[in-house]
Amino acid sequence: MRKQQITKAVIPAAGLGTRFLPVTKASPKEMLPLVDKPLIQYVVEEAVASGIRQIIIITGRGKRAIEDHFDISFELEEILKQTGKKRLLPELRNISEMADFCYIRQSQPQGLGHALLCAKHVIGDEPFAVMLGDDIIDHPKPALKQMVEIYENHHAPIIGIQQVEKSEVHQYGILDASVTKEGLYKIKTLVEKPAVADAPSDLAVIGRYILTPEIFELLEKTPPGKNNEIQLTDALKELAKIKSMYGYRIEGSRYDAGDKLGFLQATVEMGLKNPQLGNKFRNYLKGLSL
Ligand code: UTP
Repeated sequence: MRKQQITKAVIPAAGLGTRFLPVTKASPKEMLPLVDKPLIQYVVEEAVASGIRQIIIITGRGKRAIEDHFDISFELEEILKQTGKKRLLPELRNISEMADFCYIRQSQPQGLGHALLCAKHVIGDEPFAVMLGDDIIDHPKPALKQMVEIYENHHAPIIGIQQVEKSEVHQYGILDASVTKEGLYKIKTLVEKPAVADAPSDLAVIGRYILTPEIFELLEKTPPGKNNEIQLTDALKELAKIKSMYGYRIEGSRYDAGDKLGFLQATVEMGLKNPQLGNKFRNYLKGLSL
């Protein structure tokens, strides 16, 4: 088998974000600020810190702000120079220079599987990462880097997972798998959002994947499923039938920032960790009569 490095990451960001309405009516949820950076910047920084150079973002109507954020802002830079705020320039420039960005429009939000299929021609015949733009994972060793290392040992698709409470299994794709070694599971199949009684485990699929190009042929054959959308999970079930596929338990704190409560939790925890604001914010929280 040809062994290839992971150099491309697809970030699907064309969903409607209905769990976060009304803010997502006219603004992309991926641009919600976590302290002082939009959610999607955390994900791109994780990709870059994991050795990825090419970022392919799937966008749709109303998502222009994402492209503008990762572009050079000529006017802003000029104004900052003229108003003595030059020190802000390197950080701003770095946002557009940290990777090569490519944008693909998904004309209708027909599901995560369909969004991924839109990237087929840019990925070609190589393994690649998929990172959901509203899943924030905080760990000194970037989540995707942890997965890339597993990929380099196994050269097989790797699905990022975390253990969840039994009461939460109905919200996730759940693994039916056997343990290979600490934190690594060989996948038999996946069950989408099962009732607790039907869940084969408590290992939930989260928003990080390393996939191989066979997934595209499988997605092309996948009929619309739940909500009339092409579901990535359906194609992954087929992939598990033809290839060894592993679930890797990602180390780190993970926040579903596309959900209102998950977003608030991420905001508090990242705020407390922020070098400039952390102490003041902690004192403020301590002063609340909770
Ligand atoms: P989600 O189901 O979490 O996102 O999809 P959503 O549809 O935007 O949000 P809700 O559930 O209505 O609140 C997972 C990821 O797949 C992307 C989303 O942007 C999100 O990052 N996605 C989903 C697409 O790019 N296209 C789609 O058609 C659907």
